[in-house]
Amino acid sequence: MGVPAETASPPGAPQHVAIIMDGNGRWARQRGRPRTFGHRAGVEALRRTVEAAGDLGLRYLTVFGFSTENWTRPPDEVNALIDLLRLYVRMDLDRLEREGVRVRIIGDRAGLEPDILDIITRAESRTAANTKLFLTIAFNYGGQCEITRAARRLVADVAAGRIAPEAIDATAFAARLDTADIPDPDIVIRTSGEQRLSNFLLWQAAYAEFVFLETLWPDFGRADLEAALAEFRRRERRFGAVVS
Ligand code: IPE
Ligand code: IPE
Ligand code: MG
Repeated sequence: MGVPAETASPPGAPQHVAIIMDGNGRWARQRGRPRTFGHRAGVEALRRTVEAAGDLGLRYLTVFGFSTENWTRPPDEVNALIDLLRLYVRMDLDRLEREGVRVRIIGDRAGLEPDILDIITRAESRTAANTKLFLTIAFNYGGQCEITRAARRLVADVAAGRIAPEAIDATAFAARLDTADIPDPDIVIRTSGEQRLSNFLLWQAAYAEFVFLETLWPDFGRADLEAALAEFRRRERRFGAVVS
């Protein structure tokens, strides 16, 4: 998807960094504390990361906050995670707005509590004019769910005569994903040593570089982000072509 020239990143830097923030539970267990203690520390790591991303001149930062599969966790933990989204927006929205961060939430909104929907709309509308850093929070997000919802939209558009079946291509499909208008991630970072996507950005990560870090998410900070970016610069991206 086209990105205006004025939002271009510094040369050699990825324009879009996506992060699977993993390891909160293990971090808490190492300290003999409940998993929710790790999630609270994870919010601090998110704050540090958003700040570092802005300082490093990144244009797009997307973070995985809650997956469509995370509902299968114990109800107390699910409630604590949802509470943290409430808390993060309540505590940080003013600052994000002031610092030029545009917030967007991707994921399935069906079935979310009205107050959460309200928080999401407020965060998006209050920061809609910002352009410094595009922060996308994946909440109740799953790549398969997103692709399925996009397929539904396409079928509805075909049925309504808005698009012909022959006109359906990757661009038409991508335009119906939650990430429409957001460029694909250049790099996907996952913390905590796990090496899988866990249903994150299945479509969009087609040509992303993957960087897996041992750091548990609550310990993540500027140095880890810089290390991941340094690793990215050592990679050779080919996009299926021959690089001479
Ligand atoms: C990541 O940490 C946060 C979410 C998935 C919401 P985890 O809660 O998955 O922590 P681990 O993987 O059990 O250590
Ligand atoms: C992925 O982590 C979801 C988020 C980071 C929000 P999980 O911890 O849920 O993934 P699995 O279960 O280890 O694959
Ligand atoms: Mg995990």
